[in-house]
Parts: sequence; C-alpha cells; structure tokens
Amino acid sequence: MADSQPGSQHGAIDSVLNETRVFPPPAPERAGTPRWLVSSMDEYRAMHARSIEDPEAFWAEAAGELHWFEPWSKVLEWSLPDAKWFVGAKTNLCYNCVDRHVEQWRGEHIGIVWEGEPMPGGEPEVCRLSYAQLQTETAKFANVLKGRGVKAGDVVTIYMGMVPELAIAVLACARIGAVHSVIFGGFSAQAIADRVVDASSKLIITCDGAWRRGKVVPLKQNVDDAIDKLDANTVETVIVLKRCGNQVSRADGRDVDWHEQTNAASDDCPCAPLDSEHMSFLLYTSGSTGKPKGIQHTVGGFMVYTYLTSKYVFNLIPGLDEPKRDDAQNGQVFWCTADVGWITGHSYIIYGIMPTGVPTLMYEGAPNFPGDDRFWDIVQRHKVTQFYTAPTAIRAFMKWGDKHPKKHDLSSLQVLGTVGEPINPEAWMWYHRVIGGETCPIVDTWWQTETGGHMLTPLPGVTPTKPGSCTLPFFGIDAAIVNDQGKELPKGSGGLLAIRKPWPSMLRGIFGDRERFIETYWSKLPGMYFPGDGAHTDSDGYFWIMGRVDDVMNVSGHRLGTMEVESALVSHESVVEAAVVGMPHEIKGTGIAAFVTLGNGFDPTDDLKAALREHVGKQIGAIAKPDQIRFTGALPKTRSGKIMRRLLRSIAAGETLVTQDTSTLEDYAVVAKLQESEEG
Ligand code: WT7
Repeated sequence: MADSQPGSQHGAIDSVLNETRVFPPPAPERAGTPRWLVSSMDEYRAMHARSIEDPEAFWAEAAGELHWFEPWSKVLEWSLPDAKWFVGAKTNLCYNCVDRHVEQWRGEHIGIVWEGEPMPGGEPEVCRLSYAQLQTETAKFANVLKGRGVKAGDVVTIYMGMVPELAIAVLACARIGAVHSVIFGGFSAQAIADRVVDASSKLIITCDGAWRRGKVVPLKQNVDDAIDKLDANTVETVIVLKRCGNQVSRADGRDVDWHEQTNAASDDCPCAPLDSEHMSFLLYTSGSTGKPKGIQHTVGGFMVYTYLTSKYVFNLIPGLDEPKRDDAQNGQVFWCTADVGWITGHSYIIYGIMPTGVPTLMYEGAPNFPGDDRFWDIVQRHKVTQFYTAPTAIRAFMKWGDKHPKKHDLSSLQVLGTVGEPINPEAWMWYHRVIGGETCPIVDTWWQTETGGHMLTPLPGVTPTKPGSCTLPFFGIDAAIVNDQGKELPKGSGGLLAIRKPWPSMLRGIFGDRERFIETYWSKLPGMYFPGDGAHTDSDGYFWIMGRVDDVMNVSGHRLGTMEVESALVSHESVVEAAVVGMPHEIKGTGIAAFVTLGNGFDPTDDLKAALREHVGKQIGAIAKPDQIRFTGALPKTRSGKIMRRLLRSIAAGETLVTQDTSTLEDYAVVAKLQESEEG
C-alpha cells in the first residue's frame, strides 16, 4: 500500500480537509452558463443506475449522437479481459471530429483556436481553423501519408510541439486508419528510439523545433539522434514542419518538408469507414518495470466514451440540434492545458471535445512566458469557458501570486477541471476562490491513460464537491474499494480501487505484450480491472484517491516508473546501483529522490550529481531528472536482498526513522549514513 494520504504531503492544509467542507453546486446564473446538462443529483443517480443496469441501452443511445457508416450488431461482447464495443460497426474519429460538422451546418464555425508562444511586438500569434479548413487540411495531409506508403494499421510516430499541425497530423491518421503514437516533446532521443522500435514505426512527423519559454527545443535533432540509435535503418520517412526556423539537417530521400508535401497534395480523401475495434492509437506510458508500455485504444468505444464525458463533465452545449444561429456554439471555448503527447490531450483537446462542436483551444508554450499571467491573459482574450489543468500547475500559480490572475477578467469561466494527481485541498480552495470567483464548479477527474476517459468525477452544477475528492463514478462506471482479495469493503474504508464492469474506452491491450496486459490489469483482482491506485471512500460514498500502490511515481501529474529512472542511472559509467523513490514536493506533488552507489574510482561530487541528472534527462527526458541525489556506500536491504523502499521514502521525505521497523535491515550503519548525507 502507498503510505500517502490525501493532502498529507501538504500538512498545513490538513485542517481544511478535516473540516471536509462541502461545496453545493452553484446556480446556473454563473455568467454565460446556458444550463447544466444534468439538473439534479436525483437525475445523476437515475442515469448512473440505468447505465449500470442496462449498459447496452445506455451506450447505444450515447453512440447514437455520433455518426456511424454502418451500425453495430451488438453493443458489447465481453470476455474478460477482452471487450468489443459496437461490434461490427464502422465509423471514423476524424469524420466525427471534423467532417460531420461540415456536412451538418457548422463548416464555417471554429473547430480549433490556436495561440503560439512568441508574442512578436507584444501581439499574440493566433490561428483559428474552421471545420471546413480542418477537413481540407486533414485530407491533404492524409494524402501525404498515403503517398509515403502509410496504410490503415501502420504506426505513425508524431513528435511535435503544440502547433495546429499536430492536431492535423493526428486527425489525418484517424482519417485513414493509421495508428498514431504521439511522443511528448519533452522526451529524449533514447525515449523516441525505444518507442519507434517497439511499435515498428517507419514514419515520423516532427518539427524543426518547439517554442518553450522563449527557447527552441530541437525536436528534429532529437529525431535524428533517435534514428542514429536504431540498430537497423527502419525509419523510411521523416516529415518536418518548419516552426522555429532553426537549422536542421535534411537526409536525402528520407526527410521531406511538411509544406512542400501538402502544397502538392490533393484535398480529396474521404474518411475510411473503420471497424469500431480498429486500433486508433498507441500511447506509451510508464509501468512498474523499466520498459514503457504501448497502451492500445480503439475507434468506436474510445470515441463514444470521450465524447460523452466531454459533454457531461465539462457541460459542453453547442446546440447540436439547433439550426444555424449566430450563437450556435453558445460562445463556449474549451481549453485543456495538457500537451497532446499525454492521454489528456488525446481525449480532451482532440477526440472527445471536437465531436461536441465546441471549439478547442491549443496553446503552444509555457504558462509563464512572457509573464506569469500568460494563462489568464489567454482566458480573458479568448473568453475561455471551460479550463482544464493539473494540480501541479495550480500550485505553481499559487506560488507566483494572486496578482497575476487578478489582472485579468476571468468571468467567462463556467467550469474548472483538474486531472493527473490528487489535488491538495489548499490548491483546490485557491482554484475555487481566485480563478473560479467562488461560483465556478470544479471537476476533479480521476482517470488514466488506460481508461481513455474520465472515470470518477463530479458533474458540474450537480455534484456537491469536497476539496480533494474526485467524488463519484461517471455513467457506466462500477467502481469499488476492495481488499487485495477483491472483496468489496464497506463505505468509509481504504483499500484498492477496482473497476468491476467494462466501459467503452478501456484499453484493449499493451502493444506486443499480451502477458503484461493480463498480469498488470486483470490478475491482481479476480474479475476486475486493477488501476494500480489506492483509495478510500467516505460516508457519502465519495472516492478519495491516495496514490499509486505500485512502483510508479506521479511527478507533476506525469507517470514515471521508479525502475525506469533506476535503469537510466545505472546506465551511467559511474553508477553501480541505484534506488529511486518518490518524495513530497511542493509544486510537483511528487519529486524524485535517487540513492546512488558509485563504482571504484568515482568521487561523490556535486559535479557528478549534475552529470547524473543530465544523463537521466538524456535517457528519458527532463521530467525524469532526480530532484535529490544521495551517494551512499550501500543501499539498505532486507536479509533477502530487497531494497527497503519504504525506508528510503522516509529518508527522502526527511522523516525520522524511529517509527520505521528496521528489524530486518541488514546493516544499520547504512541507514545512519544515509540520514546524515546531505541532500540536493
Ligand atoms: C494516474 C494515471 C489521466 C490523465 C493524466 C494522468 C493519477 C490521475 C487523478 C486525480 C488523483 C489522479 C492516478 C492514476 N491520477 N488523475 N484526479 N486524482 N489521482 O494519466 O499518466 O495515465 O496517470 O494518475 O494515480 O493512476 P496517467
């Protein structure tokens, strides 16, 4: 069991938690909110009950709000751990995100609002793409992909900054049934190489660079370095979008220019009718072993679930059934601040949001460029109505000070969301007060790369909220707290979080590793999905997530395996052995602490610490750089040779060891030394 408690990393606010304040849903008078889609808790409970008792009817109705080229013969075929949703049906994600709006009456409406990071002459660079333009651009780029030999089912790697062409590339893949594997721009060349090899991907789409806090991240250079690391010359094409104007190399025959290609391409490329169970994308995420796993998602089930969660959890009301009117988009603008390189960006920048017909905002850069108020400046200028971000960002905003949001008019906001890690009540209260003006509902959404969409979440304007709780299950989700035998525990107990019924956007596998799929998710608890989180319920049946129960850390809302970081450290010539644990961190939620044993002839210097941090950055990416490195003569181990991680976690957190049971510890001297060793 993880030994963390919600909020316990942030001691000062435990008092807030103990009061367990309940925030009743705000009235719809909140400026501009048209209405709340679900009107009462009774209605939520009735809909939830129906979704559990008759899931096929419930999901058929939801799916009916989207376009299908051919209908399903059966809504669900379930044989644990294999689910098939909308069996035999044919549909297309790009069609439902883009073409459908054009074919209805929304072609000239804005689908994507994009803002670049640079502010040339103080003016933001903004680009608004209508659904009709998106149709043309995705069709052209889909033809470029086809021209380079890409077929349905082939894996296309995307390693780009947050530019509109990233969304176009993703949607173009969806258009023709190519499987995209988007790699976050913060990952290193080694991480790209690992993912390209695992997915046998022959085509990479990248940019010359990406803007980040006024500097250029050399994306193309990282791709070149990744390709150099491959044993065989398997990458046939690299498509390069010029964004930053930095110098990049161009390998003959392999590297081609985005614009040269699209200018020459036809805009005639109908959306392929794909089987509902066709693989739409792979997204690599960390697990408890050293190797990231490629999570597989589908077309039909993923589409229906991310659409329905987008609609209800963010209260998106585009007026689908209304004829053309000036305010047909109800003035809503949805902004999710995640990068498309994470599942949050897949589901809630693109695939779930776009079918609703509400414009989705993409911002290219850092929250503090050119000033600490950039996000609030964006909210004001674009009149953002839904704002979805991570607790780690909220904690940074708090630290930067209230004066930044206070400079801006945030009254357009209707719903605030958070995702990625437990939100400490202090951050929740700040979000509620300073950003939401005490009237905006906050939706704390618990879910995972594997679940595809929100699983536990309030419905805005409906569910009374409690700071730090992700409240209740979404429609169709049967969640419970169980013990390690899978036995359900009564309300108010702590244990393992389990999901007992299949849902449309559940992962269908780990790419190329059936055994790991079964072992990780379907073997721990009999007959249930095991997400790897510890949680408890309270007397109202509200869920409180306590954190991972496996060797996975949640750093700034991003998942990293301790073994991944350990392997990276051990691959440095100086390191003999390394143990990595999470530790409380004011902004990141969890920081990374590394305990390192050096080989003969290496001195434990600050320079070496810096070199090791750089090395981990090169092996994985900057997010994996340890916050603390401690050199130690040996690691504390049990008599059977297991590293005592619990003990290391205590040391990293700066706790005294009196409370720890060290009776099985092999060498007390090791612990004493570690406690003395200076951190940093
Ligand atoms: C892990 C999944 C889902 C997109 C972002 C992260 C933690 C996620 C919450 C939340 C408490 C949360 C869990 C989960 N987590 N959302 N609202 N409250 N914890 O996706 O990288 O797949 O990580 O993030 O521990 O298992 P991911």
